[in-house]
Amino acid sequence: MNLRTHYMGIALANPFIVSSSKLTSTIQGLRRCEEAGAGAVVLKSLFEEQILAEIDARLMDDSMYFWFPEAKNHVAEISKEQGVKEYLRLASEAVSSLTIPVIASINCLTANEWPSFAKQIQESGVAGIELNISVFPFDPAVSSEQVEDLYVEILKQVKSQVSIPVAVKIGYNFSNLSRMAIRLSDAGADALVLFNRFFRPDIDIEKIALINTNTLSAPEEMTESLRWIGILSSQLKADLAASTGIHNAEMAIKQILAGASAVQVCSVLYKHGIDYLQVMTRGTEDWMARHRFAGIDAFQGLLSQDKLHAAAYERVQFMKKTTDDL
Ligand SMILES: Cc1cc2nc3c(=O)[nH]c(=O)nc-3n(C[C@H](O)[C@H](O)[C@H](O)COP(=O)(O)O)c2cc1C
Repeated sequence: MNLRTHYMGIALANPFIVSSSKLTSTIQGLRRCEEAGAGAVVLKSLFEEQILAEIDARLMDDSMYFWFPEAKNHVAEISKEQGVKEYLRLASEAVSSLTIPVIASINCLTANEWPSFAKQIQESGVAGIELNISVFPFDPAVSSEQVEDLYVEILKQVKSQVSIPVAVKIGYNFSNLSRMAIRLSDAGADALVLFNRFFRPDIDIEKIALINTNTLSAPEEMTESLRWIGILSSQLKADLAASTGIHNAEMAIKQILAGASAVQVCSVLYKHGIDYLQVMTRGTEDWMARHRFAGIDAFQGLLSQDKLHAAAYERVQFMKKTTDDL
């Protein structure tokens, strides 16, 4: 069975990509992904926020900078270089030791800091770059339009620096997601990853403290990306990768039927181990054989919104007919 697909202009042996996480943060982890049959890997993101926080902490400790403020910038530059260097080392080692495509990931919050870094990443030999952009609208003084403009600006800046394909991984917190996706596609995104799953705060009522739970997704979360892949797959030049809540072969098949070129998986591999990738690829092959699909392109997008000529993906309210059984 032929599982080959094209995603963001890169040829993949199969559509299963291990998404950016701790699973893809070391050479050993990346090798395990390849051995288990991943079509590609996305390296753990280099977090702009994390690096800047580290720099700040280091600088705040040292009162000397009060007297030599110009030294502060110098040290900040050196600290940043350090994080970047480590990341570049991981990227080039991954490229030389794996045969599957390696996609680097940058977590971006601003358009100022990272575009130049993207150029260095390209030099490490990676097949593409995924921009993990997470600008959250917490500031009421910033308009929706300004937030959206920033996403497009970051993408444009990076695209102007590199020639390898660039994907943008986003969440679904936009007033008009269709417009945002089209803007990113028109600005040159080679792919969109729908969707990132962000940290979800919770409260421990005994300890009376904020806690970090719900780190892994649940299968029910898959429907959000299914809806948007169904709606957007026929409207965009950019390819689409489904992400969040894809926990088995059936879910991956659904996303491809809706129009995805690839699926990204993470939580399911934390739950069942990396080798579960084999179960997912075999399950996809079995289904393709039963339905006599010789390749991914034979069923990709078969149930996209434009093929269905129906508003099913756009239905948001439960109607009487859909709740009669409850
Ligand atoms: C432990 C952990 C670390 C993650 N780190 C990153 C990261 O560095 N960059 C990123 O873009 N996404 C990161 N993610 C999000 C995943 O790549 C993925 O988008 C999310 O978990 C939803 O997919 P899933 O339902 O298959 O887990 C992380 C997820 C987990 C669970």
